[in-house]
Amino acid sequence: MRLAYVVALTLALAFTAQQTALAQQPSNSVKLIPLSQFYSLWKASQNVSATRAQNITFLDVRPKTLYQLSHVPDARNVPSQDARKVASQFDSRKRRVDPTKAVACYCTMSSTAVAACNEFAKLKAYSKVNVYALNASFSDWVVAKYPVEKSGKAGH
Ligand SMILES: *[C@@H]1O[C@H](CO)[C@@H](O)[C@H](O)[C@H]1NC(C)=O
Ligand SMILES: *[C@@H]1O[C@H](CO)[C@@H](O)[C@H](O)[C@H]1NC(C)=O
Ligand SMILES: *[C@@H]1O[C@H](CO)[C@@H](O)[C@H](O)[C@H]1NC(C)=O
Repeated sequence: MRLAYVVALTLALAFTAQQTALAQQPSNSVKLIPLSQFYSLWKASQNVSATRAQNITFLDVRPKTLYQLSHVPDARNVPSQDARKVASQFDSRKRRVDPTKAVACYCTMSSTAVAACNEFAKLKAYSKVNVYALNASFSDWVVAKYPVEKSGKAGH
């Protein structure tokens, strides 16, 4: 029952995402990119023979429950309400997101991904790296049959 509810909610949010994306004014620093480009970045990040393969951190900014069901492989979970806190921890020992790496966020709504990624983009430490947000929903990633992973590393 609970799972069905979560799935239904996810689909409802995914539908809303398209409408919201049109209204969303992306920040100057966050680059809103289409699914195909997001996938290309992820694919490149998985190539261990490339010189700087791991130079990007993928952030799943959805709630932990959704992240645990399924997420982009190697993405870290930083629920969007925690993004500001996590971004500001970059220079502490607790830091989870390396400011020398690009950041790419995705969510059930592109507007939420932009908002979360903006917490990183507006910090001076991230001024020299690309900050991307997926202009689509995680559901679109699943529909495109791109790889997914269950459970895994949480952001905290
Ligand atoms: C991985 O990176 C290497 C070195 O840059 C490149 O030659 C190779 O084509 C890449 N492999 C894939 C699958 O992209
Ligand atoms: C990662 O590094 C490579 C080589 O310097 C660069 O071409 C690529 O754009 C970088 N990727 C990101 C996401 O910054
Ligand atoms: C984001 O997606 C929407 C809906 O598909 C599209 O209209 C818009 O042009 C896209 N924005 C960017 C910056 O690609």
